[in-house]
Amino acid sequence: MKIYFSSISLPCIPDEVVKSLLEIPLVNHESTANRYNVMTKLMQMFSTLDVEEINFPIILTEHDVTVTITREIYDMLHKKCMDTYRKTSTVYPSRYYRINLSEHMRNSILECLSLPEKLISLEPRIALQVSVGGLIPHVDFNRKSSLFYLLTDNHHLFTTTWYKHKNKNVNLLDPNELGFRWVAPDPDDLILAAEQQLKYGVWYIFNNHEYHSVFTTSNDKRVSISVEFDITAQELFEILNENGQFK
Ligand SMILES: [Fe+2]
Repeated sequence: MKIYFSSISLPCIPDEVVKSLLEIPLVNHESTANRYNVMTKLMQMFSTLDVEEINFPIILTEHDVTVTITREIYDMLHKKCMDTYRKTSTVYPSRYYRINLSEHMRNSILECLSLPEKLISLEPRIALQVSVGGLIPHVDFNRKSSLFYLLTDNHHLFTTTWYKHKNKNVNLLDPNELGFRWVAPDPDDLILAAEQQLKYGVWYIFNNHEYHSVFTTSNDKRVSISVEFDITAQELFEILNENGQFK
């Protein structure tokens, strides 16, 4: 059976570390999400910029791919995105920020986690994620799986949902007809596979390589830690399972 998420018995982050993580200011930190892919860059533009202020065409890069976004393409993708927000009743505008942690903070988290050596040797990235509003269905590029830990005590406001795609042969890494990877699918092509209110103070294995979304009707800030791996959620599960880390 495919793993979408699974709670896991790992030590809680101590209160004083949680406190300092929550105090990291969002200002002065360039959103690293901006660097990841064209879809994320466009999503940020949809929520933060007035289209009349954008000088088209915009040239965006995604790894080694450079794409030209004309006003026409922008409007088409914006419409697709807004339709999905509407169809899935997800709060808009949504904001998503990723902040790379300082070496010191990263070490404090790894120390309290005491992960098996096999996982430490994979040199997981650790990011602080801050989001406001919901997230429409998508897959993540920059991590196949992660250990997720919610730092804000408002889990009852957010439901994380995973989906199967109707087209089993979909290749998440294929470029679309516009020459880049757009991984926000039509919600009509998705079948609900799992959903959960990920709880405050609990570690979860999170499958980032299946379509997933976050539903909320609130504008509360949701802050979490993401310890990120390039192995599948199944592989992550197996390594932790060997270590007897399941409830
Ligand atoms: Fe995601």
